[in-house]
Amino acid sequence: MRTCYATELSRNDIGKTAVLAGWVDSARDHGGVIFVDLRDKSGIVQLVCDPADSKEAHEAASALRSEFAIIAEGKVRARGEGLTNERLKTGEIEVIVDRLTIANKSATPPFEIGDPKVSEETRLKYRYLDLRNPKLQENFRLRSRVSHAMRVSLQEQGFTEIETPILTRPTPEGARDYLAPSRVHQGEFYALPQSPQLFKQLLMVAGFDRYYQIARCFRDEDLRADRQPEFTQVDVEASFCDENEIMGAAEKLLKAAFDAADRDIAIPFERMSYADATEKYGSDKPDLRYGLELVDVIDLFANTGLKVFAEIAKDAKRNRVKALKVENGDRLTRKEIDYLTDFVAKFGAKGLAWIKLKEGALQGPIVKFLSESEQKAIADRLKAKDGDLVFFGAGGKKTVLDYMGRLRQEIARLLKLADPKELRFAWVTDFPMFERGEDGALKALHHPFTKPRDLNEGDPEEIKSIAYDIVLNGCELGGGSIRIHDEALQREVFKLLNISEGEQIAKFGFLLEALRFGAPPHGGFAIGLDRLIMLMSGAESIRDVIAFPKTQRAQCLMSGAPATAEEAQLNELGLRVRKPTK
Ligand code: AMO
Ligand code: AMP
Repeated sequence: MRTCYATELSRNDIGKTAVLAGWVDSARDHGGVIFVDLRDKSGIVQLVCDPADSKEAHEAASALRSEFAIIAEGKVRARGEGLTNERLKTGEIEVIVDRLTIANKSATPPFEIGDPKVSEETRLKYRYLDLRNPKLQENFRLRSRVSHAMRVSLQEQGFTEIETPILTRPTPEGARDYLAPSRVHQGEFYALPQSPQLFKQLLMVAGFDRYYQIARCFRDEDLRADRQPEFTQVDVEASFCDENEIMGAAEKLLKAAFDAADRDIAIPFERMSYADATEKYGSDKPDLRYGLELVDVIDLFANTGLKVFAEIAKDAKRNRVKALKVENGDRLTRKEIDYLTDFVAKFGAKGLAWIKLKEGALQGPIVKFLSESEQKAIADRLKAKDGDLVFFGAGGKKTVLDYMGRLRQEIARLLKLADPKELRFAWVTDFPMFERGEDGALKALHHPFTKPRDLNEGDPEEIKSIAYDIVLNGCELGGGSIRIHDEALQREVFKLLNISEGEQIAKFGFLLEALRFGAPPHGGFAIGLDRLIMLMSGAESIRDVIAFPKTQRAQCLMSGAPATAEEAQLNELGLRVRKPTK
């Protein structure tokens, strides 16, 4: 129906006839002449409906309202002197309409497309209108280009795309499962996959050698700005290779993805062990765009007069005293220091000591407890200069690392230390195999199919795994591992995780069985596609890169999902709904 898209028109087309199709972004009647901004997927161009050019077109235009669907034919002309609209790509020209067709009227829209003041709730309810916003549409074109480029890269690297089931059995990735009841087998349920993990391992046993899939995953977990209950992974697995080859494939893949977004990135990425990342940055996904490294100072407080610190310093294995230096500390006001103290308290800090170096002397609430030599040792260890401000966190290792890492991020946010244009990738490697949950039970940090470097050590919490995460600007973009391909080892890991023999057979019998038939050494990774596009597009929420996302409460406000089921359907499934427990 059209000859071109709106923003394809430019000065070069002056004098030519064009047919355009799209929506009325706005229509303004300027005393006889009606100006219409026509919007299509490319952007906006101004139409002019002047009765002097076409009486019919002008009459049709007088009925136009926002979001009517229209088709307009006319001649391109230059805008008058000084009338260029700098905000529009097509700001130098306009189209004089001589034929205007209303393809469809629109009810009054509940909001103006692209209006930043509209609540997200309203936008999600009318998502099909919200998505008319060209800025939002750009995210989806980017997403399409990037996933295409990733497919091409993987194909070229010899990977085969294979689909795995959605109706399946639970895959333990650490979240709750979504369940789908079976009609044929009443009382039984399918689980929607948290990832294709087990199936991709079985494809390795099957001899496909290199598999990939742009796979939908489902996890019933607490939602945040970068989490959705259903999301997409670029999922990869390969046989007969070590972690270096797999990490290399992931780097090539990301290079291709960023090429498609016109961003040049350098590979290989730097690598850092989990231990280094957590000790230096207080996080297993550190943002490396700024310094603010955490410095160990526990030894300096062994005999200090500051009683809390001295007590904590007695156990340097289980406790930490970490210092964080902010150069030119006057950038933080007293009010901000108080705010930061309250901030870390939310994450378990018992206090937040600080000192300032002013005119060669230390100042701050803890200085009076410190001896001359302690003061000097601290200043030396931190290479502190006049004007520097140093924060101290003391307490149990896990708590201190966590809140000092958060403090680091929060200071960077207050002082705007991260360059929003910079892309800092890193691999975090050598994750512990297990961690202890709050109940004291061992849990797999990655997933229970990850290969430990060595099981023959005493303390299970000391066991390292061959697992790696890809971190970009403080966000976990992806992760993977080398897998266990030996049945006996897999059983041993299950045992450490306190998964009984019976449970092993019931839940993972098919995997254990498959490992007995010449399973090759294998490993892989998965990249969160939604997060990748979110970081590439600069979107603030993962919802801006998912066409029909769910709210924080896992609802689709447009379709009204989830919803109750009809009695007949429930009967067929052999289900009865109990009164919801509030
Ligand atoms: P993992 O659980 O680390 O690994 O997931 C891989 C990547 O998926 C993304 N991701 C999410 N994105 C949006 N919303 C969510 N709820 C969500 N959960 C995870 C993250 C994450 O880094 N099977 C393993 C991979 C492997 O070992 O090969 C797995 O799923 O970007
Ligand atoms: P207090 O003697 O409790 O007033 O503490 C003196 C200073 O040490 C205050 O600035 C506290 O914020 C700080 N402080 C106390 N406990 C800790 C801790 N565990 N970690 C860091 N700072 C602390």
